[in-house]
Amino acid sequence: MKAWAVLLLFAVANAKHEQYQGWKSYFVKPSNNVQLKVLGSFVEKYGIDFLSSPAVERNGLALVKPEVHEDFIKSLEDYGIAYKIHAKDVKAQLDIDDEVIETRRRESRGMKNGTIPLDNYLELEEIYDYIDYVAEQYPDLVTILHAGDTFEGRPIKYIKISTTNFEDTNKPIIHIDGGFFGRDWITPSIVLYALQNLTQSDMLDDYDWILAPVINPDGYKYSFTNDRFWIKTRSTDQHLLSGLCPGVNINRNYDFFWNTVGTSNTPCADNYAGSRALSEKESSALNGALVDLISRIVLGISLHDSGSSILFPWSHDGSLSNHAFALQSVGVSIADTIYSNSLPDFPRYIVGNSALVTGIEKSGTGIDYAHMLGIPLTYNLRVPGIEEGTEGFHLDPEYIEQVAKETWAGIVVGARRAAELFGRTRN
Ligand SMILES: *[C@@H]1O[C@H](CO)[C@@H](O)[C@H](O)[C@H]1NC(C)=O
Ligand SMILES: *[C@@H]1O[C@H](CO)[C@@H](O)[C@H](O)[C@H]1NC(C)=O
Repeated sequence: MKAWAVLLLFAVANAKHEQYQGWKSYFVKPSNNVQLKVLGSFVEKYGIDFLSSPAVERNGLALVKPEVHEDFIKSLEDYGIAYKIHAKDVKAQLDIDDEVIETRRRESRGMKNGTIPLDNYLELEEIYDYIDYVAEQYPDLVTILHAGDTFEGRPIKYIKISTTNFEDTNKPIIHIDGGFFGRDWITPSIVLYALQNLTQSDMLDDYDWILAPVINPDGYKYSFTNDRFWIKTRSTDQHLLSGLCPGVNINRNYDFFWNTVGTSNTPCADNYAGSRALSEKESSALNGALVDLISRIVLGISLHDSGSSILFPWSHDGSLSNHAFALQSVGVSIADTIYSNSLPDFPRYIVGNSALVTGIEKSGTGIDYAHMLGIPLTYNLRVPGIEEGTEGFHLDPEYIEQVAKETWAGIVVGARRAAELFGRTRN
C-alpha cells in the first residue's frame, strides 16, 4: 500500500515540468557592452529566457530550448562570451526544487501568532490569508483595496496603510509591489514583510503606503501549478491564438511607447504586449489604484527576481529623464543600505538605467509608465538570485527572510530620501 502511494507520488511529481524536458540553463557573463547587447539580441533570435539578467561582468542565467541549443552555444563562442552550465536537465532540476520546497512546507512553522512565515515561498492563498489577518488586527491602519478581478476571476488585493486613512494630503505616499511576473516567488514575501514591519514601526508617522503583494495572481498561481517559469497573465481574449497561448506580459502592457521595442505581437512569446495598452485587468488595476494619488507618490518600487540591481527609466531607449540625478542618487542610497545589511555571499547591487544596465530596451514597462505619469522615483528592484555554485531555480528558502529584511531596510532609506527630495515641493 505504502509502496504504491510512493510510486504514485513519484509518477505525479515527474509528470510535472514535462515542457522543460531537454532544456538546459547556462550562466553567461558578458565582459563588455558589445557582448551584453549580443546577449540581449538572443531573446528574439533564440527565444532565450533570462531568469536573471546579465550585466557587464555579472552573470545572467539563460534558459535554453533544445532546438536552439547548438546554435546558442556556437554564437556564445563566436562572440567570445563566457558561459558555464547551470542545469544540464532543467526538468530534473525542477523536480528536485519541488522536493526541497515540499519538504520545507511539511516542516514549516506556518503563520504563527500573526508573523508571516518567511521560511518558504508563499502560496497565493497564504498571502491573501495574511493580508486579511493583518487588516483585521489593525483596522485603524490597514485597509484592503480590492483593485479588481483577474482574467480568471481571482481578486486583486492591495493594501493601503495609513494613520489618517490617506486623508492627510501632505503625507507623501510610497508604493511597493511584487508578483508582476508569476515566477517571481520571493517578491510577495518581501512586500508582506514590509506590511508586518509597518504595523510596528514609526514609518507611518510621515508617510502613507500602498502595497501590492501580487500584481498578477493568475500568473503567480499558474507558476506553482503548471509552469515554474510562467511570467504572463492568463488571458485568452487578446488574439486569435490566445486560446492556445494565453497571457500578456504586464510589464510590456503599459501605455508608454507601447509595443514599440522589446515586445512581441505573438501571444506565444513571453514578451507579448497584448492587443492594446492596458488591455490586462491586472495592469489596469494597478493604474486605477495609483492614478488619483500620483501627485503624492514620491517613490514606487517594483520588486523582481532576480539580478541584484536597481533599475530606473527610461527602459525603452536608455535615455535619462529629468529626474535622472535623483533616481541615481536615491538608488545608490537604497543599494548601499542593502549592502550594509547583506550577507557576504550576495553580490553588490548595480544601480542604473534599465536599458543600459541590462542591454535590453523594452517599452510599456510599469516603471516607465508610472514615471511618465509623474512619480519622480520609480525603480525595478531585482533581488539577489541564483549564483554560480548553487543548483536549482530559486534562492534557497532559508535566505528569504534575509532578502526581505535587507530589501526592506533599503526601501526605508529610499522612502526618507524620496520624501526629502520630493515630499513638500510637489503638493
Ligand atoms: C502573540 O502576540 C501577542 C501580541 O503581540 C503577545 O502578547 C503574545 O505573547 C504572543 N504569543 C506567543 C505565543 O508568542
Ligand atoms: C522594521 O524595519 C526597520 C528597518 O529595517 C528595522 O530597523 C526594525 O527593526 C524593524 N522592526 C521590526 C519590528 O521588525
